Amino acid sequence: MPQEKIEIFKSLENWVSHNILPLVKPIEKSWQPHDMLPDSSLPCDEFIDQVRTLRYRTANLPDDYLVVLVGSMITEEALPTYQTWFNKLDGVDDKTGSCSSSWARWSRSWTAEENRHGDLLRTYLYLSGRVDMKMVEKTIHYLIAAGVDVKTENNPYMGFVYTSFQERATFITHGNMARLANKEGDPILARICGTIAADEKRHENAYIKIVEKLLEVDPTGTMIAISDMMHNKITMPAHLMNDGRDPLLYDHFSAVSQSLRVYTANDYADVMEFLIGRWRLEKLEGLTSEGRHAQEFVCGLAHRIKRLYQRAEERASKTKVEQHGVKFSWIFNKEVLI
Ligand SMILES: [Fe+2]
Ligand SMILES: [Fe+2]
Repeated sequence: MPQEKIEIFKSLENWVSHNILPLVKPIEKSWQPHDMLPDSSLPCDEFIDQVRTLRYRTANLPDDYLVVLVGSMITEEALPTYQTWFNKLDGVDDKTGSCSSSWARWSRSWTAEENRHGDLLRTYLYLSGRVDMKMVEKTIHYLIAAGVDVKTENNPYMGFVYTSFQERATFITHGNMARLANKEGDPILARICGTIAADEKRHENAYIKIVEKLLEVDPTGTMIAISDMMHNKITMPAHLMNDGRDPLLYDHFSAVSQSLRVYTANDYADVMEFLIGRWRLEKLEGLTSEGRHAQEFVCGLAHRIKRLYQRAEERASKTKVEQHGVKFSWIFNKEVLI
């Protein structure tokens, strides 16, 4: 990124410390995974009783629900990849690893908050006995080793558009998982997913605010970054997941998530529509002709995607699509219909 753009991010240091860092929750007031798990400090029998209760509650969670929960957990567990990605962004990276700049403090605090999500879901699933932990752990191992390329280059404009999108997408996902957990008779799991969703919402607000500020100080540069990100379909962070068995694992996981209505193509378009409205992109002024071009493209996009989705849905409802079973190693090779 050119030096003058890097200067923009330097000049926002103070703004970040007054507007973004307050969105971090003080650690003393933050929840920790152990708050929602069987209490391991209890005497052995009482602890085992709590684990037994957890197992009763999770015994009837449907297989398709478990697949989506495992997939979400694995996505969270690849956090080292996301912190590495963040620190590749020019002008907001953490130069020393414990740098006092407000961008670096935000990135570490964000990582620290996110770190609890995978821990909590992973321990809960482990205690449930419903999933093949060895295969789940292998998938995490493969995924972190594979890394990710979400096509943001080293560009923080694109990076923050991406995180705005992703945090909202995960807020929707965990929120829907909470709703379904309640329906399936596990209110504690519903609380877990709801608590994670609330974190994602807070992070979404932070990233949306950052992009809003960038639109104010550099409308054309930011508008072009939004357009560049939305031009190619936004890549999901765990798209390289692999369990060493199913070469189409990510597609299969996404299909289950879509059929459970946890995260659908319509949600994707909704997120886009929401961001366009929230950033008031249609009314954005002060753009160069290149910026106006990008604006025109972006503002029509959500509508186009929704139309495509509706047509696909109509087609699917007319021509009854045959469902077929897919085996997931995560749930001991049981089949789920997609
Ligand atoms: Fe998360
Ligand atoms: Fe997140």
